[in-house]
Amino acid sequence: MALLEIRGLTKYFGGLAAVDHLDLSIEEGEIVSLIGPNGAGKTTVFNLITGLYPPDEGELLFNGQSLVGLHPHEITALGIARTFQTLRIFTNMTVLENVMVGQHPRSRSGVMASVLRLPRFRREEEHIRRKAVEALSFFGTRLIGYRLDQPAYSLSYANRRRLEIARAMATEPKLLLLDEPTAGMNPHETLEMARMIGQLRDEKGYTILVIEHDMKVVQGVSDRVVALDHGCKIAEGSYEEVAHDERVIEAYLGRRRDGDQEAVAEAQPC
Ligand SMILES: Nc1ncnc2c1ncn2[C@@H]1O[C@H](COP(=O)(O)OP(=O)(O)OP(=O)(O)O)[C@@H](O)[C@H]1O
Ligand SMILES: [Mg+2]
Repeated sequence: MALLEIRGLTKYFGGLAAVDHLDLSIEEGEIVSLIGPNGAGKTTVFNLITGLYPPDEGELLFNGQSLVGLHPHEITALGIARTFQTLRIFTNMTVLENVMVGQHPRSRSGVMASVLRLPRFRREEEHIRRKAVEALSFFGTRLIGYRLDQPAYSLSYANRRRLEIARAMATEPKLLLLDEPTAGMNPHETLEMARMIGQLRDEKGYTILVIEHDMKVVQGVSDRVVALDHGCKIAEGSYEEVAHDERVIEAYLGRRRDGDQEAVAEAQPC
């Protein structure tokens, strides 16, 4: 059984099928890249998996359990964590606090225990703190030490992206969804992030679905690549197979020629 099994997944926004009868399965331990031109529906796939939007049609099975109808925090608790294309950092909170808040779905103490600061609550908070520091330590010394107590607004853009990954890691996911983890990074940072994506699988044991525009990163990290256009899956296979697929090449070139919104509006069903 695949870790994640997506069947016939469909989401409309008005008349537009942002995701159109998508089938996709991800085996445990795989790194799968999701590629496609702007507006192809990649982020919407993440939003459907993580329960931000309900699908209009289709099935989402994680470890055989349906995710449809679950709240985002329930999906996090089942073992799916994500980062956002548009960063969701609480800039006025510290680095450590940003990671600690992400573990909320896993905390067990009730409100009263926390208000009264009962021993159970304090033990749990210490545990959450330890896990947060451990996740932040994955990025060497970049986010720990004196940085732990600095407000997130003081971080560089690349460090904010790393912070988002640490927050996802601290929820102890089985499946990690990364939405453009190298966006806005310089070539050196991008290369380092590509290496870290491999380490997230090899050392932490996560299964990873990554949305990525940088083809060098896609080539370097992917066991398998899935290409979307107009919400439809247009190719799937090894990096070489997908990168040389005529529909993929046409999707990227065509989209640039047409201008994105009109091209999407005139899209045909898959
Ligand atoms: N909440 C929404 N309401 C209306 N339309 C939406 C919404 N979210 C996405 N869309 C539309 O759905 C389509 C797919 O968007 P999506 O963000 O999934 O694309 P993407 O592949 O992630 O693109 P990019 O590479 O630019 O991030 C686009 O046409 C977009 O405008
Ligand atoms: Mg996107």
